[in-house]
Parts: sequence; structure tokens; C-alpha cells
Amino acid sequence: MSQTIDEIRQEALNALEAIVDADVLGKWKSQYLGKKGAVGKMFSTIGSIPPEERKAFGQSVNALQTELTEAFEVREQLIQDLSLSRDLEEGEIDITLPARPRQMGGLHPSTRTHREFQTIWADMGFQVYQSRDVEEDDMNFTMLNLPPHHPARDMQDTFYTTNPNVLLRTHTSPGQIRAMHELGDNGSKPIRVILPGMVYRQEQVTARSEFQFTQVEGLAIGRNIRMSDLKGTITEFAKRMYNPNAKVRYRASYFPFTEPSMEVDVECFLCDGEGCRVCKYTGWLEIAGSGMVHPTVLRNGGYDPSEWSGFAFGMGPERITMLKHGIQDIRYFWGNDLRFLQQF
Ligand code: PHE
Repeated sequence: MSQTIDEIRQEALNALEAIVDADVLGKWKSQYLGKKGAVGKMFSTIGSIPPEERKAFGQSVNALQTELTEAFEVREQLIQDLSLSRDLEEGEIDITLPARPRQMGGLHPSTRTHREFQTIWADMGFQVYQSRDVEEDDMNFTMLNLPPHHPARDMQDTFYTTNPNVLLRTHTSPGQIRAMHELGDNGSKPIRVILPGMVYRQEQVTARSEFQFTQVEGLAIGRNIRMSDLKGTITEFAKRMYNPNAKVRYRASYFPFTEPSMEVDVECFLCDGEGCRVCKYTGWLEIAGSGMVHPTVLRNGGYDPSEWSGFAFGMGPERITMLKHGIQDIRYFWGNDLRFLQQF
């Protein structure tokens, strides 16, 4: 053996100490740690070592390899740091140059509210189901217990396409039928979903009404779902969304696709029910339409209403966002005015 382990260690470390250049460092690495480097050669001599000394020899070569590798890494970092500070000194990177202002995007205020809704409903076991914006008349109305010429069709003025059976959905409720068909497996499986999305109504555009806005529909179908489940679930949502101590009240109402139907109010979260301008001094804010899924709708979704029942609700995120941020005009939402959007 021409060199001892100690000699190699000394030589390598001495050489390393003098290196200030990345190329030279690379050569050092192959000279000592490369496949045909000094350490590698040491390993290959193991056959010529007397058997009783092999173990000790192997361990020392291993230790040498580890030591040199670590020393190499330290040096490599040092050289990188050196070269960065050299670049800075030589002005290759001019850190005095003022940066260009960066355009930052942000989430639309409605998107923020939707995300809050989704998080809460997901925690409560509801999956998101995406349904289509362009719908069939049958789905938007007929299947929801609103046959042609039903007077309640006038509750929502509709944008029709040139095809009289194709329209822009006026509410997210047609998604109930699609979810039942797609997830219900011919009326044999329970369902728990929310259906968020844009809806469209041919309305006079004013500060309080737009021809497009979003809704979050909810649907739960099971074998033993009752009104108390509806109330418990929506009340729990309201507490998580608005205020853990919020009171919630249910008022009898009418929707063709639910029976019985209820409007849901939550104690005004701006005045804690004291009465203020926003709640028009009633102490309550309306947050949802809801009800027990009508037997006809269950049947249209493939379920046998003598065995299955469910509840549904529809909420309007824009209204909530307006109340929360004191937004006075719903037209800001889809007006694409950056001065509005950048405030969130
Ligand atoms: N679709 C109803 C609306 O747009 C809301 C609703 C959904 C009511 C589900 C009851 C059940 O006004």
C-alpha cells in the first residue's frame, strides 16, 4: 500500500482548505471521493489485508469517507456563500434597483364566503356536488313539482335559450334531482351533499337584485330523516358560521319542492338581535329557504317516499357577504371593478 489512511486524510483536508473555486472543488471531489478516487482505491485493497485486520480496516476507510464527505459539503457551502458575496460586491446583482410593484390577485368576496360554507358543511359530513348551470326545463321545474303552467313558476323569472326546454337554472335545486340520480343508486343509498353554484334570473337589475348570483343548495336523504334533523343541522351550521350563541328561528313558508317548507332566520349578527338598520330593527336576518323533500321530488329522484325521506335547503352567499361587509349594492359583485374587488 502506497499511502496510509491517515496520509490520505491529511493530504485531502489540506488540499480542500486551499480551494476557493467551484471547479477545483469538483476535481477534488473526484480525486478523493469519486469512483476511482483515493477512498475508492482504499476499499479495493481490502482483499490484500490479512483477514483479522479487515474489519478494522474497513471501518477506518468508512470513517475516512464520511469525514471527507462532510468536509466537502462544508466547503461547498462556503464557496457558494463566497461567490454570492463576491457577486454582490462586484455589483453583478444590483440590489439598489427598485422592484416593480407586483400585481397581487385575491379571492372574490363571494368565493371567500363559499369557502367558509364548504368548510363547515364538509366538517358536518356533506360532500360538494357540482351540477350544471345550463339546465332542462324539466329539471329546473317539472321534476321539482312545478309542472308547466304551475303558478309558482312565476316566483323565478327565467332566461330561456332558443330551445324552449333549455334554460339557465334559476336556482340550484335541479341539482337535487341530478344528485339523487347520480349518487342514489336507484334510490338505494343515502345522500348528504351541498351544491354550490351560479344561478340566473331575468330580473330588473337594482342595488338589491342581480340577474346572476350564487346559491348553496343542501340535500340530505336517508331512511329516517325528520324535521328535527333539518332544524338541528341548519341551526348547527348557523352557529358555526355566524356566532356560537346565535338563535335560529324557523317560519312556515312555501316551496313546491318541499313539504313542509320553512324560511330560516338567524339572530342578526351585527347587533346580536338588538335591532339595527341592517336587520331593519327586527333582530333577525333571513339565511335560507328549507323544507322536507316533497314525496313527488323523492319519487322523481328514484326514491320510494314510503321508505325514504330527506331535507333540503338553499342559501344565498352574496346576501351574507353584503351583510358582513356592509356592501350596499349587489351590482358590485359581478361588475369587475377592481376598486371593489381589491378591498377583500
Ligand atoms: N330553491 C329555492 C329558491 O331558490 C330555495 C330552496 C332550496 C328552498 C331548497 C327549499 C329547499 O328560492
